[in-house]
Amino acid sequence: TRALTVLGLESSCDDTAAAVLRRGMDGRTEILSSVVRSQTNLHAAFGGVVPEIAARAHAEVLDYCVEEALSQARCAIPDLDAIAVTAGPGLIGGVVSGVMCAKGLAAATGLPLYGVNHLAGHALTPRLTDDVAYPYLMLLVSGGHCQFLLVKGPDAFSRLGGTIDDAPGEAFDKVARLLGLTQPGGPAVERTAKSGSADTFALPRPLLDRPGCDMSFSGLKTALLRARDTAVAQYGGLPEQVRADLCAGFQAAVVDVLAEKTRRALRDYLDLALAQPTLCVAGGVAANGAIRTKLEAVAAVAGAQFVAPPLALCTDNAAMIAFAAMEQMETRAPDGFDLAARPRWPL
Ligand code: KG4
Ligand code: ZN
Repeated sequence: TRALTVLGLESSCDDTAAAVLRRGMDGRTEILSSVVRSQTNLHAAFGGVVPEIAARAHAEVLDYCVEEALSQARCAIPDLDAIAVTAGPGLIGGVVSGVMCAKGLAAATGLPLYGVNHLAGHALTPRLTDDVAYPYLMLLVSGGHCQFLLVKGPDAFSRLGGTIDDAPGEAFDKVARLLGLTQPGGPAVERTAKSGSADTFALPRPLLDRPGCDMSFSGLKTALLRARDTAVAQYGGLPEQVRADLCAGFQAAVVDVLAEKTRRALRDYLDLALAQPTLCVAGGVAANGAIRTKLEAVAAVAGAQFVAPPLALCTDNAAMIAFAAMEQMETRAPDGFDLAARPRWPL
């Protein structure tokens, strides 16, 4: 193996990111830089990511992010061996911005271009941060995604199940909005839940009665809305304790659903009888302390090792895109200038 330096770009949602990774002769990969510029404040007034605003903002700052990533890595374009970019899935305007920027760099330098699936980036991250062997089980839980993946190789994934409606992060964000908490909702709901009781409100555990690993979070959100309205009618407002109880009840329901579905996914995966079975989590929702603790316990009971990458690598970033390209470079050819931005691109 020779040393390899790769620039990665990510712009599929509301973070613009660029990163430089180097894989040494010893096969160890180092993150030389990982720049992430969040657009949260641009979308704050709209209660969600506005695609057109996102696309314009990505196009405006991508080149600065690249410049910053290269300079933090103390690296120049001639030091690079490849350009990697998220080619989907995601908001089309943002993905196009990233792909065009990467094509421009590749055209100007002659460097090979790799279009990477954003979900593959998340799913491969545990191998960047920890000593994890294929195949491993991955639960990807964020604002946009929720699925169980069997990761068999850099470009080989099987989907064992996932949400049939909202992602849990999306539900956390909506619940925060319903209860007048700040965005992003996940951390606010988790904080508020600490002083609440999970048993005050009986909230549903959707799809637990159905076999398999599919999940649903939209009905849970509707149940919470009803519970809130009943409380508001009863108290003429939302007392602090009621708000805390609603948060605790909602979080406990999400924990129960994720835990039970993870048990089922682990059961299928453990049939492979591996020497070291591993459950990995990634995505912003994996930052939740209650969820993390529960999943760790579920893995322990099943005899699986539990791996959660550090938060900065769990949420959207470009290091995971550069790393995924590095993993895939050994087995696939670069993309041509016909590389397309794909808003939908299931693994
Ligand atoms: O992975 P991410 O940064 O972006 C994508 O969705 O791709 O995840 C962001 C999501 C948001 O919905 C946010 O509310 C949620 O992750 N989140 C949390 C927590 N921290 C972030 N959800 C629950 N508990 C948390 N502590
Ligand atoms: Zn993501």
